Amino acid sequence: MNKIGIIGAMDLEVETLKSHLTSENITEKAGMRFHEGLLNGTPVVVVRCGIGKVNAALCVQILADIFGVTHVINTGVAGSLNPQLDIGDILISKDALHHDMDVSALGYPLGMVPQMNCLEFAADPRLMELAKASCERVCSDVHALFGRVLSGDQFISSDAVKNRLIELFHGDCTEMEGASIAHGACLNGLPFVIIRAISDKADGSATLNYPQFEKAAAEHSARLVEDMVAYI
Ligand code: ADE
Repeated sequence: MNKIGIIGAMDLEVETLKSHLTSENITEKAGMRFHEGLLNGTPVVVVRCGIGKVNAALCVQILADIFGVTHVINTGVAGSLNPQLDIGDILISKDALHHDMDVSALGYPLGMVPQMNCLEFAADPRLMELAKASCERVCSDVHALFGRVLSGDQFISSDAVKNRLIELFHGDCTEMEGASIAHGACLNGLPFVIIRAISDKADGSATLNYPQFEKAAAEHSARLVEDMVAYI
């Protein structure tokens, strides 16, 4: 039977989902609260992992080992790297990579984790299609794209850094957990998708725009996820 692990980094990314769970059971592990129950009739575990790649990776491993999840979805907000993605729009991952992994001094391409045989972690095509269909059903007024998620332990808020990320990695959005969730899901043989609503443009306006738009953006992504789990 399917059990879907749903990860958000911050409370506001998972609070609506948690409040819609039925028959909830809470387990604490590694400082995270795992909320197990039914969402839209589907068995899920909803968890706030905290910010950054280490928290995200730990969280995936706990979902795999202790909760035996069959699929992983990451919901949340991101900074846009693509002029076609405006604040409030949604990016559904095609793939994800670590923009802050650099072993280029030993000949590895920027972003590649040595000894992994891929640069980018590919999202599950079926979960991608389900996410798009849910977006059309429940966020029909929201513009959604498939694209590349770049993750690093940095909040991106300058044109120079943003442009470098676009040039080097051709990313569509940037955040701080997705590639770790993708990486952990791949190592555990779990299909995954990352769904991120745009809260800012990852440029000089990001620190002003982010607090203003994060809540509405997080809700777009969560609404989509809640619909989607019933179709997996
Ligand atoms: N999450 C939302 N906006 C972001 C940004 N600009 N950089 C990193 N993570 C983010």
